[in-house]
Amino acid sequence: MTKKLIIGNWKMNPKSVRQAKDISEKITRGAKKFKNISVVIAPPAPFIGATKGILGAQDVFYEKDGAYTGKISADILKSLAVKYVIVGHSEKRYPLSGGGGDTDETINKKLKAVLNARLTPVLCVGELTRDHQSHYLHFIKEQIIRALKNVSKNIVGKVIVAYEPVWAIGKNAKNALDGEEALHMNIFIRKVIADIAGATTAKKIKIIYGGSVDVKNAEIFISLGKMDGLLVGRESLMPQKFLGIIENVNRA
Ligand code: 13P
Repeated sequence: MTKKLIIGNWKMNPKSVRQAKDISEKITRGAKKFKNISVVIAPPAPFIGATKGILGAQDVFYEKDGAYTGKISADILKSLAVKYVIVGHSEKRYPLSGGGGDTDETINKKLKAVLNARLTPVLCVGELTRDHQSHYLHFIKEQIIRALKNVSKNIVGKVIVAYEPVWAIGKNAKNALDGEEALHMNIFIRKVIADIAGATTAKKIKIIYGGSVDVKNAEIFISLGKMDGLLVGRESLMPQKFLGIIENVNRA
């Protein structure tokens, strides 16, 4: 059985490096007993050095080095022992300020930079809204195709696809995806990957779900949705709740 993957995306939290250290210590200590689950924490970049456990980053810049004020390269992340890099999160694609967000093209460059550095990209895809004609499926398919453009077929399997429907982020379990919808998306994304990189890769690639995951709904995405893991926002900042999610996934 392959290990399940649970990533905590802390976004712009907590407020201090001390809290980051404290929360991550509690999570890492509590998660140790779950041998079949990899628990990753993606803190704000300045807190990476102080965060315990397996490390993730929330973003990356695609150039190798140079005059890019405020940017962080894959090599810099690697030197901080980061293993997973989130690419194309919806909050980076569609920033509050409007323009200037990630495009399919920059996401493709970032994903390749992460792979070149031998780190694991976590590619976020997801529709803004759903429609009865299922145009959103085409939207997701295009996001995946464009993100994986010119990625050689034999390494597509190293990418983790995080399905995060934008409408389900920051809500609650009742307004998130349900298990059956998760299963549909899981099958659909594998089909898209099969067309790009073949059936073997499609079978083994990890697909995780994100968007209002909590203790109540975590299990269903794994048991019914057949997801390989979860990408958790708010609840990953509360050690008791995050550990509850991990425990439920372990049981699923
Ligand atoms: P929430 O779990 O807070 O809805 O956030 C989901 C998310 O965006 C994780 O990347």
